[in-house]
Amino acid sequence: MSGQIEILAEGVLAGDRRSLARALTLVESERGVDRDAARALIERLREGSGPATRIGITGPPGAGKSTLIEQLGLRFVEAGKRVCVLAVDPTSSRTGGSILGDKTRMTELARKAGVFIRPSPTGDGSGALSGRTREALTVLGSGPFDYLLLETAGSGQADTEVANLVDVLVLVLAPGGGDELQGMKRGIRELADLIVVNKADGETRQLARSTASDYARSLPAAGRDAVVSCSALEGTGLDELARRIADLADSAPARQAGEQAPDRDASGAIGRLNHVALATADVEQAAAFYRDVLGAEVSEPKPLPEHGVTTVFVRLPNTALELLEPLGEESPISGFLKRATSGGMHHICCEVDDILAARDRVREQGVRILGDGEPSIGAHGLPVLFLHPKDCFGVLIELEERASVGSGE
Ligand code: CO
Repeated sequence: MSGQIEILAEGVLAGDRRSLARALTLVESERGVDRDAARALIERLREGSGPATRIGITGPPGAGKSTLIEQLGLRFVEAGKRVCVLAVDPTSSRTGGSILGDKTRMTELARKAGVFIRPSPTGDGSGALSGRTREALTVLGSGPFDYLLLETAGSGQADTEVANLVDVLVLVLAPGGGDELQGMKRGIRELADLIVVNKADGETRQLARSTASDYARSLPAAGRDAVVSCSALEGTGLDELARRIADLADSAPARQAGEQAPDRDASGAIGRLNHVALATADVEQAAAFYRDVLGAEVSEPKPLPEHGVTTVFVRLPNTALELLEPLGEESPISGFLKRATSGGMHHICCEVDDILAARDRVREQGVRILGDGEPSIGAHGLPVLFLHPKDCFGVLIELEERASVGSGE
């Protein structure tokens, strides 16, 4: 390991702000040379992985998560805890900035001694976690913090990913969002340690309380006291909430460096089948077929203009199908549909632990990579590469780097 990495690692372990910031920038970088340095750093940090308890605060946009986190953070600091915040920001790629760039959020908490706050881009704006989130958590978790708060925008897949990355999961909802909870991935209620209905203030005070009791009634009797309402704005219910989260955090089993996650496989070999992508000229009709004729669970159509497709996910117990309809003039699947007018299998996607190791592996065997050979951010917000079908027995193969070891297993 280079001396520079060792110096950086020591800075991180000591909680030096500049070192923390530099280390996070390094793990978020997609440049090959930075990936090598990032891997060395993560390996070094795992040796002495810190004691921080990871608390995930997730929920839909507009639920007031940032204000709530700031208020909780202030209470933790008052109780003598050292706190850091990683805010995974679904909007940063759209605005080109970060949520903390405007300096209007968490300013009071950011001023407290020993507190470190960091926004982290997610790549594609979908709210899914970036492939680097886990490494960013390892960096912050190695610092001298008691609590590491991870803020994420809840969006189906991301929720279970978050649950796999944290010790305590808090789900924050806005009043009246009954449909939201219905639409959330099955199991999120079981995964959350606490469900918080925020904004019990002003005109939504009553609604927040009735929403909280509605949620509570939908849970088994034993879990009902896991639903609380509060107002991050007025501060009502926050002392109690902070105490309950602290109790959960302090009783969470201590993490051992080796238990966080097994090391990533650097061989570049393929892992699980992530999805099979099926091209169709009419994604609504195809979705209806999988839902009504075959009886599968299908998502709502989601336009992804930056990828030139509208997608529907068909969730199967062991994998997923992605139905793709061309969107826009330059859709990457238009050519395919010209040849196969009734639609057909477009590509398969396999997971790899390390996208660059996988690229190097197949290249050495003479397999061509489509495009310039650099990973791009795919529809799930994770780095992907496509292998040339002529070198893969006629099948277009997508390789996607895993977001988090252990998720969904
Ligand atoms: Co795909």
